[in-house]
Amino acid sequence: MKTEILTMLRQADGYVSGQELCDRLGVSRTAVWKVIGALKEEGYEIDSASRRGYRLKESPDILSESEIESRMHTKWLGGKVVYFGETDSTNTQAKRLAEEGAQHGTLVVADMQTAGKGRRGRSWQQRPGETISMTFILKPEFAPDKASMITLLAAHSVAVAIEKVTGLSVQIKWPNDIVIHKKKAVGILTEMSLSLEQDSIHYVVVGIGVNVNSTAFPDEIASMATSLFMESGRRVCRSGLIAEILACFEADYEAFLQTEDLTRILGDYNARLASLDTQVRVLDPKGEYTGVSRGMNERGELIVEKEDGAIVNVYAGEVSVRGLYSYV
Ligand code: BTN
Repeated sequence: MKTEILTMLRQADGYVSGQELCDRLGVSRTAVWKVIGALKEEGYEIDSASRRGYRLKESPDILSESEIESRMHTKWLGGKVVYFGETDSTNTQAKRLAEEGAQHGTLVVADMQTAGKGRRGRSWQQRPGETISMTFILKPEFAPDKASMITLLAAHSVAVAIEKVTGLSVQIKWPNDIVIHKKKAVGILTEMSLSLEQDSIHYVVVGIGVNVNSTAFPDEIASMATSLFMESGRRVCRSGLIAEILACFEADYEAFLQTEDLTRILGDYNARLASLDTQVRVLDPKGEYTGVSRGMNERGELIVEKEDGAIVNVYAGEVSVRGLYSYV
């Protein structure tokens, strides 16, 4: 009921009468009054005026199931929200829920992760209250060899959502770091589980970590990491950004299903590519090489022109971009 009341207050242009809330939700005035009291306890500023009803004046930057659900404007993504004040890793929790049969589109969000996971076995750290740590579960019907493109879709959706919400211009470091003024603000970790026969996807979890309102980073990463607050000078409402990321991803994913490749987002993705026509170093396990990045293709590979003119389509792996992070 909290979600419904919050949604109605948020959608209203001014006051919503107590009677309207009771009628729409089929509950008593006392029940409504109790929920309003609980919301105030959580930090929501709600005006109550006799004969006019209730008006939401100010929302705190908190995360909760109701707060997130009341901001959501998607069809299926985030249809179920599971929120943790603190957990080990939202990816770990999402995988557990997927194993237990959680539905396609389920969203897991945490205010704080104690064992956040990064790519290549690294850890992902954050402080409570400052970041978005979330993971959604997908149960796609397409072939497993297409799954690597999901992570590229996610990078694109997050970039578009951040630009929409903050007005900042962001870049993407292939495949899926979001970079602002040459520093990383978002990391994405996608993990897949295959069916026993290994010929179909059991589920995919897409984990997204956004440095939203962080004001500083530990010395080891301070030269490479940034937050939306540090770049824009303004605090960003985390639940609003979560809702926008989900809306952008849902649209990108539905477009992807039409062609099962990245044709529909390719121009937009490459327009934000941090490495376009820039020197890159490809850390291929068979041997490192340098070249110039010519953009991503519709299969999600990075097109690299080597010094001898040969073209290589890089499928996976670490690519350093000159001028980004510590590569100079
Ligand atoms: C990277 O190394 O760039 C990827 C970092 C991914 C971090 C996010 S935070 C939410 C989700 N849960 C995790 O444990 N990791 C991802």
